[in-house]
Parts: sequence; C-alpha cells; structure tokens
Amino acid sequence: MKAVLTKEVGGPETLVVEDVAEPTPGNGEVVVDVAACAINYPDTLMIRDLYQFKPERPYSPGGEFSGTISAIGEGVEGWQVGDRILASAGNGGLREKVAVAANRMFKVPEGIDLVQASALLMTYGTTIHGLKDRGDIKDGETVLILGAAGGVGLSCVELAKAYGARVVAAVSSEEKAQVARDAGADEVVIYPREDMDKAASKDLAQKFKDAVGPNGADIVYDIVGGQYSEPALRSIGWEGRFLVIGFPAGIPKMPLNLTLLKSCDIRGVFWGAFVAREPKRNADNIAELFDLWKAGKINPLISETYPIDRAHEAIAKLENREAVGKLVVTM
Ligand SMILES: NC(=O)c1ccc[n+]([C@@H]2O[C@H](COP(=O)([O-])OP(=O)(O)OC[C@H]3O[C@@H](n4cnc5c(N)ncnc54)[C@H](OP(=O)(O)O)[C@@H]3O)[C@@H](O)[C@H]2O)c1
Repeated sequence: MKAVLTKEVGGPETLVVEDVAEPTPGNGEVVVDVAACAINYPDTLMIRDLYQFKPERPYSPGGEFSGTISAIGEGVEGWQVGDRILASAGNGGLREKVAVAANRMFKVPEGIDLVQASALLMTYGTTIHGLKDRGDIKDGETVLILGAAGGVGLSCVELAKAYGARVVAAVSSEEKAQVARDAGADEVVIYPREDMDKAASKDLAQKFKDAVGPNGADIVYDIVGGQYSEPALRSIGWEGRFLVIGFPAGIPKMPLNLTLLKSCDIRGVFWGAFVAREPKRNADNIAELFDLWKAGKINPLISETYPIDRAHEAIAKLENREAVGKLVVTM
C-alpha cells in the first residue's frame, strides 16, 4: 500500500510516497481503510520539527482522517468491521491504511459524506471548544475572526453564526473575503499582507473598530497572530475575550495596558490538550457538531481534493497562504 513519508526534516518537497507493508491492529487499535486525510496547518510545522509534537521518523503526516474499519485488534469494544469513522491521531493519516487507537475515533453518522467528514474534527472541534468552553459565546455577541477564510477560520464563521453572533471576518484578499461572506460573515475587513508600520497598524485598528461597532468585539478569534493581533485587541469591547488559537504570521507581543483599559481577558485555546484531559466533554462537542451539520447550520468547505501522489502540493499550498477552507487528500 502507498504511504506519504517524512524521512528528513524539511518542507513539503522532502516528502516521499513509498510502498509500505499493510498495518495490523495492535492492542486497543483498529485498522482503517482511509477515505480522506484533511490537511491542517500543524502538518506544515510537524514535518519541519517546528510543532510541539515530534514523532520519530519515518512517519506519515496527516493529523485527521476518515475511512472504514477493516480490522479490529484485541481489547477493542463497540466497533465493527465496516463502521465509518473519523479520527484525530496527530499524524499518520496520509496512507491508504492506518492503525489507530480506537479511543481516537468517532462514528460518522448516516447521510454524512465520508470525504467531507475528514475536514471536521481539528477545525470545528477546536472552534466549538474555543467559542463555547473558552469564549463563553452568547447570542447576539459580536465576534471578530482573523484568518476567517482558512480551515479554522471558516469553522468559526459558521459556528459563531450558529450560536447567534454577528460575525466580522478579517482576511488578506478579496477572494478570501467572498468566501467568508458566502459562509455567512456579516461584515468583512481586508488587511494588508505586507509589513505594517505604526500608522498602518493604527489604520487597521480603526477599520476593526468601525466594523465591530461602538461596543467593540465581544470575542476576538485570533488564528493568525503576528502584526494583526494588537490592532484586533484594540477593537475589543468591555470584558471581551481575546482567544489565542495560532500563529501562522508569528507569535505576537501584546501591550498589557490594553487588557486593563477594556477589563478584557486574553485566553489560550489548546484543543489537543483539552481532548486528552477531557475526552467526555470533547465527545459531547463532536456530537453537537454532527447535530449542527444535520440541521444545516455547518457545512465544512473542501475547496480542493488531491490524490496521494500530490499530497505535498496540498501542504505547500496551505503553507503559502493560498488555501481556502480545507484541502483534502483522497485515497
Ligand atoms: N489552538 C489549537 O488548539 C489549534 C487547533 C488547530 C489549529 N490551530 C492553529 O490554527 C491556525 C490555523 O490553522 P488552519 O489549519 O486553519 O490553517 P489555514 O487554513 O492555513 O488558515 C490559516 C490562515 O492564517 C492566515 N495567515 C496569515 N499569515 C500567514 C502566513 N504567513 N502563512 C500562512 N497563513 C497565514 C491565512 O489567512 P489570511 O491570508 O486571510 O491572513 C490563512 O488562511 C494554525 O496556526 C494552527 O496551528 C490551533
């Protein structure tokens, strides 16, 4: 069977596709015939050894995938050959068959497309935890989302709307602005891609303030970091919640006086650690996501699919800031 492998530290161009032996399930594991593996920003970091988890090489990247169970190991209960699943395993999804711990999987309900389901867990799982558990989102609040047309970003546009919020989407191009509007954003701010000086940063803060309105943003959902975080924090409202999700544009430093002036909170969101610490609450969140999906309130956008031989192109596209919604590799 075919597998994408990282054998050396480096970018997507260092990935190779090789024939490897088919896996057998270990204790507590099942083997899944992979239908689709969704690409996420952490995949770009892991292959460069820039992520908090550094698996031993060679391994297949690909943190989340969907498929059908084809073999069941010792000690696994509640699963059958033929069950349709999605899993979040950190890595290992970019191969035709993968052995995965049974406790990393969720059943895909009838009527939900298996390929589309591959794009649900990491983005929407992060955002439902971010908005509800960390952000205390309430009906009628205003949510400002940075990087709103990416994978996590679009999940936030849809979920914030599902929870009754007014959504201001911030993105770096008109094409991405249209994608955010199509997903339900009420207002869009386009920010520059090039480096901003002090005047440009002030100008962006004003644009955010105008878009969120006189009461400020109740929640800032910061997927991007870098030079965009401080202007966004300047547009937050009284007792607002600034949620820290990721740093594709770099790790920002924030002037703490702004938190005093707004009596606001800066709150970290670490979905992977939440899943490990509170699996039951995460499972409840995932069940809620499927309910929202069946009710038509969310609909994960896969903008492109790739065959396994071109998986490296999908990772490169994400890394180059060109991806919209999710890129998915189908087997
Ligand atoms: N905290 C958690 O638990 C958690 C869980 C999952 C993911 N994450 C993090 O969330 C972030 C987004 O992940 P994702 O899978 O949604 O990625 P994605 O689809 O690539 O979205 C990231 C967005 O960041 C923006 N961006 C700004 N500067 C960039 C740069 N230099 N390179 C690439 N993108 C840049 C882009 O939007 P614009 O061009 O519009 O600016 C892009 O759409 C990542 O940092 C990831 O590690 C965190």
